[in-house]
Amino acid sequence: GKGTYPFYMLKEIDEQPTVMRKLISTYADENGAMKVDAEIVKAVQEADRIYIIAAGTSYNAGFGAKIMLEALTNTPVELGVASEWGYGMPLLSKKPFFIFLSQSGETADSRQVLVKVNELGLPSLTVTNVPGSTLSREATYTMLIGAGPEIAVASTKAYTGQIATLAFLAKAVGEADGKEEAKEFELVKELSLVAQSIEATLSEKEKIAQIVKENLLTTRNAFYIGRKQDYFVAMEASLKLKEISYVQCEGFAAGELKHGTISLIEKDTPVLALISNNPEVAAHTRGNVMETVARGSSAIVIVEQGQEREGDDIIVNAVHPYLSAISMVIPTQLIAYETSMQRGLDVDKPRNLAKAVTVE
Ligand code: F6R
Repeated sequence: GKGTYPFYMLKEIDEQPTVMRKLISTYADENGAMKVDAEIVKAVQEADRIYIIAAGTSYNAGFGAKIMLEALTNTPVELGVASEWGYGMPLLSKKPFFIFLSQSGETADSRQVLVKVNELGLPSLTVTNVPGSTLSREATYTMLIGAGPEIAVASTKAYTGQIATLAFLAKAVGEADGKEEAKEFELVKELSLVAQSIEATLSEKEKIAQIVKENLLTTRNAFYIGRKQDYFVAMEASLKLKEISYVQCEGFAAGELKHGTISLIEKDTPVLALISNNPEVAAHTRGNVMETVARGSSAIVIVEQGQEREGDDIIVNAVHPYLSAISMVIPTQLIAYETSMQRGLDVDKPRNLAKAVTVE
């Protein structure tokens, strides 16, 4: 049950530090060595390209892991929207490896791609929260997120859990390949820091509630902007806000705004900027924020420690750059939750939506 929580979503947001620590004990031993199925590691090592297929938040989680996966496995990662790939695959590489990301393991759009992958006799891995689910049974391999049941329609702990699970896979593959970068990436330590960073953000709920009250209570639209990894988080942040608060929100690559979309900025349009601890990217995103402020936007800056400036709104404790999608998404989950709550909506059961989408 949800205990003393008003909604499952808030309970599930709060569970994320525990999910991170549980993943450490599932996929690493007491010395910090990876415990990832050797067959999975070998299958990824043999691939010349990783195809991640998913829908919605799980698709966004694939992006959240892409930079890390490519850096540690030295293998290009391509993302596919399941509902599009179901019609037919694009030209595949010579040795593809498919990863299906699915909280429920029951998403019909993803399954129809898996059916084609199996017809082609290609290897696949399902990363899911539900043991024995359809996508788990039908893929070659499974890695479990182990986040515990996710009841709220809006997915939170599955997103962060999927990225963390893929981190273990990425490091295990990189180490098996003898890559220095993978050996030096102290995932157990770094993920513990992520858990702490999440806890620090969770203690800012009142401040976040106030920011929502001042900026998002009546608006019809909003923007999340960021660059690189922050852009990927912006995609997820905007999906979360849209689905439970019905605020129309775009997640945009900060540098693309000026190529057209900036014409939508009006007086008081909320622009939420995500700025992680990457000096070059941070400076550019701040420039883009100023461009919107010059057109009357009300800017809200969510910044990772190391790049903070006077007047920034939410500061997120710094983590390893590979894992910043996990820590940077937390304030945006709370923003979506608060916006829905303060508007008096049913946070856990938004209109028109079901938890698992079992139709194509
Ligand atoms: C968003 C959300 C959906 C799901 C999507 C995929 O909060 O919950 O976008 O992420 O329907 O579902 P799974 O991960 O179960 O395949």
